[in-house]
Amino acid sequence: MKPQNETNPLSNLDEWEEDVLKRYPDPETIVQEKSVEEYRNYDDPKRDTVREFYRLNHTYQTYDFVMEKRAKYLTFSKKEMPIWSAFDFLNQLVDDSDPDTDLDQMQHLLQTSEAIRRDGHPDWMVLVGLVHDMGKTLCLFGEPQWAVVGDTFPVGCAHSDKIVYPEFFEANPDSKNPKYNTKLGVYEQNCGLRNVHMSWGHDEYVYQMMKDYIPEPGLYMLRYHSFYSQHREHAYNHLMDEHDHEMFKWVKLFNPYDLYSKNPTPPDWKKLRPYYEDLVAKYLPPTLKF
Ligand SMILES: [Fe+2]
Ligand SMILES: [Fe+2]
Repeated sequence: MKPQNETNPLSNLDEWEEDVLKRYPDPETIVQEKSVEEYRNYDDPKRDTVREFYRLNHTYQTYDFVMEKRAKYLTFSKKEMPIWSAFDFLNQLVDDSDPDTDLDQMQHLLQTSEAIRRDGHPDWMVLVGLVHDMGKTLCLFGEPQWAVVGDTFPVGCAHSDKIVYPEFFEANPDSKNPKYNTKLGVYEQNCGLRNVHMSWGHDEYVYQMMKDYIPEPGLYMLRYHSFYSQHREHAYNHLMDEHDHEMFKWVKLFNPYDLYSKNPTPPDWKKLRPYYEDLVAKYLPPTLKF
């Protein structure tokens, strides 16, 4: 992965997820107070890179930016490959210089899917675990980190102050545009999230990639897994409809598997491969389009 620079302040994409984990510690294994304290430790140099990352994200994720990226990527004409090659491709994101990142992207996907499988959830949910971060290949197509990862939020309406580092939206031109800076903006009350555009990133991209193949609750998990201001703070109930609320039960079910399934023991891919080959063949075509 590209070295840290002004456009890409994080030393690797996992730094964002590590920060989310500090913000929302696992209630089962971590004492809340201690972690909140750690989270507020602004002397930590990693905090500064995450802060800078959010500054860029909140400044440049505008309604027009999202439209531009949708037009560019949702034709899926960049690359076509079997899912197994896609995992290898994704693993190019590993940053060898970071001692904290000992597991590659594939390991995170497998740990998520294996934790889901262990708990006896439907097989399509296991598949969701396996593919949920596949959209991070956007980085390999040259997108900056702030257009690939980070908390997602609706564009085209006012930014909620429940989004992390809300002060950085001051610099986002949409926050000064009367078309976009009211509570509803370009949307209607409770219009349903299917009518709402989210900030651009790996969630929307993988949802669009998978939308013909996975049952709807799984598609919600893919599409909204980084929408923390909604699943943790209920900041956008005014855009959600009844159906969204029903489906968000699934998003909430998925979320802990993404955040809290990190385990220092890597899953044994050789042993698991036959199961996953069958699972992938059941739901997905032989090649995926990027
Ligand atoms: Fe993700
Ligand atoms: Fe993830």
